[in-house]
Amino acid sequence: MSIECLVQKELYFFPNPFQVRGKDFVVSPFRYPGGKFYALKHILPFLLPVDHDEYREPFLGGGNVFFALPKVEFNWLNDLEQDLMETYSVIADRRLSKKLLDLVVSEEASKERHLVVKNMVPKNRLERAFKTYYLNRTSYCGIINKPAWGYKDGKSSPPPNWGKFITMAGEKLQDVKLSSADFEDVIKAPAKGRSVLMYVDPPYFHADQKRAYTKSFATEDHYRLAEVLKETEYLFCLSYDDCPEIRELYNWAEIHSMSWLYNTANCKGSARKEGDELIITNYRITDYPKDFLFN
Ligand SMILES: C[S@@+](CC[C@H](N)C(=O)[O-])C[C@H]1O[C@@H](n2cnc3c(N)ncnc32)[C@H](O)[C@@H]1O
Repeated sequence: MSIECLVQKELYFFPNPFQVRGKDFVVSPFRYPGGKFYALKHILPFLLPVDHDEYREPFLGGGNVFFALPKVEFNWLNDLEQDLMETYSVIADRRLSKKLLDLVVSEEASKERHLVVKNMVPKNRLERAFKTYYLNRTSYCGIINKPAWGYKDGKSSPPPNWGKFITMAGEKLQDVKLSSADFEDVIKAPAKGRSVLMYVDPPYFHADQKRAYTKSFATEDHYRLAEVLKETEYLFCLSYDDCPEIRELYNWAEIHSMSWLYNTANCKGSARKEGDELIITNYRITDYPKDFLFN
């Protein structure tokens, strides 16, 4: 079965993302602009059938895809956003993670407290992680770059739940390499395993990302990414907004048109927009084991 055929037939197989629960499935500890939680049911069918023992995500963000996938032997997660990656490293550190958990579960999610935390000057890794995590959970769309109050009573996840997210993510992050570098370093680095698979989720080509991320991604970066991916010997699955520029840049690869709901820096409260998306791969899936993940 070709992947095009598979996508048409199986796309709506999983009515909501909470049913995407396979081996090692964990919910991301972060809310994240451009996060792919609601797109998991579309993205995972392109990754699950691929045999690999090394996994890399050069644009991690909230890491929804890594946290949903079964974990393989070697894993490398990266994002240029330093505060985010440092928070992941604290979550992965058993001793510090417990301290972070103790700090967040007794927190109060209020506009006044948000302002106090925003003005804090952290003195160490733990305090920086606390500040980043608190602001992520209480800010509009999870934006930690110039955060604005965005927590909604009854809709947003309350502080006692934050501890559970930290514990589950911390377990999955054991023995995972974490870095805060430019994507090119991650994509070009020598392999540790026999077969490398990368999920690549850069900022969209046409998106107002100045608000969402601290590090902006310029037009040259999109071209640089395409060059690096064209050269790579590793397997990759890339997600992008559907536009002529990206279709042209990747006309040498497999391009699949998709549509899913997403969060953007423009999202209002819990509203999500439906957009036209592309999944681009440098491989073709010919057989899809239906019972591989969903049980
Ligand atoms: C679309 S988001 C990733 C979302 C993620 N897949 C999720 O599910 O939450 C893109 C990420 O790329 C990061 N980024 C921007 N420029 C980068 C660069 N040159 N190298 C690595 N990461 C970069 C941003 O900080 C942002 O977190």
